[in-house]
Amino acid sequence: MSDETPPSQIKVSEMTPESGAAMTDETALSAAISIRDLAKTFDGKEYVLRDLSLDIPKGKITVVIGYSGTGKSVLLKHILGLLKPTQGSIKVLGREITGMSTEQLTKLRHSFGMLFQYAALFDDMTAIENVLFPLREHRRELSQDQMIQIARARLREAGLDEKHYKKLPAEMSGGMRKRVGLARALALDPEIIVYDEPTTGLDPVLTEMVDNLIVSTHNLRKGTTSIVVSHDLYAAFRIGDHVVMLDSGRVLLHGTPQEFLDSDIDLVKRFVSKGVRKELHVHSEPSHSVE
Ligand SMILES: Nc1ncnc2c1ncn2[C@@H]1O[C@H](COP(=O)(O)OP(=O)(O)OP(=O)(O)O)[C@@H](O)[C@H]1O
Ligand SMILES: [Mg+2]
Repeated sequence: MSDETPPSQIKVSEMTPESGAAMTDETALSAAISIRDLAKTFDGKEYVLRDLSLDIPKGKITVVIGYSGTGKSVLLKHILGLLKPTQGSIKVLGREITGMSTEQLTKLRHSFGMLFQYAALFDDMTAIENVLFPLREHRRELSQDQMIQIARARLREAGLDEKHYKKLPAEMSGGMRKRVGLARALALDPEIIVYDEPTTGLDPVLTEMVDNLIVSTHNLRKGTTSIVVSHDLYAAFRIGDHVVMLDSGRVLLHGTPQEFLDSDIDLVKRFVSKGVRKELHVHSEPSHSVE
């Protein structure tokens, strides 16, 4: 897929050598994620996602925004192969994932680093043990020393001071836990890093730290694709190369921050003018649908 791919990377191309035909799609080649006509219903009646088509460009930071309940996390779970679409196509790094077996999907997930709102660290493991965990699971060919070297490098990259490496999550601050979560997300050298609400519930100082960390991690890892789901419009504009706004399970607007500022779409204008933090509890408001 890429000449720059480090040898440690588990390549998607190793999974489905027979599906090379998928690579003839030009869009799929230039996009890290290419979604066509995606629809999802859980109950067979109400559609959480519908007619959703989206290309997430390689090597960029794309921020997905939208009111609560518009399908941002459900979209992310489809991209990660954690949910099966009712309809539609999802290509990750050029490979169709909708028909993949559980085993193939598990391998595919090694191309992803994931950081969620609560870093979800293992409470009984130290910082460095948390980062070692995915290496011990998936990189068994490495020696213990090599794994420790990688774990230390990732923690350094995530900005955690060495004196905290042996601390348990309960002994760390929220910011340190985020750094460990990020270091663990980076452990397997992912091509795509996915963040779901990485700053929700954090104070402004920590929010800025995590936003900066997302950008510095992205810039340090050449070619990495970052996808950030956020309520925070301010962050979206500050860190996003591209912003995607979902509404009622559809893409309302996909563009640069400037295109959002210039948009004539009523809902976008409201979202932009109010700032998103205030919008957290208005998702029950019926008027934001664009049907
Ligand atoms: N496993 C599930 N089963 C049934 N319905 C679900 C499931 N997961 C999500 N939904 C529904 O899908 C819709 C979209 O949920 P989603 O979690 O994607 O929203 P969101 O945009 O991420 O919201 P938030 O900003 O609050 O995180 C919601 O109505 C939710 O109830
Ligand atoms: Mg969500």
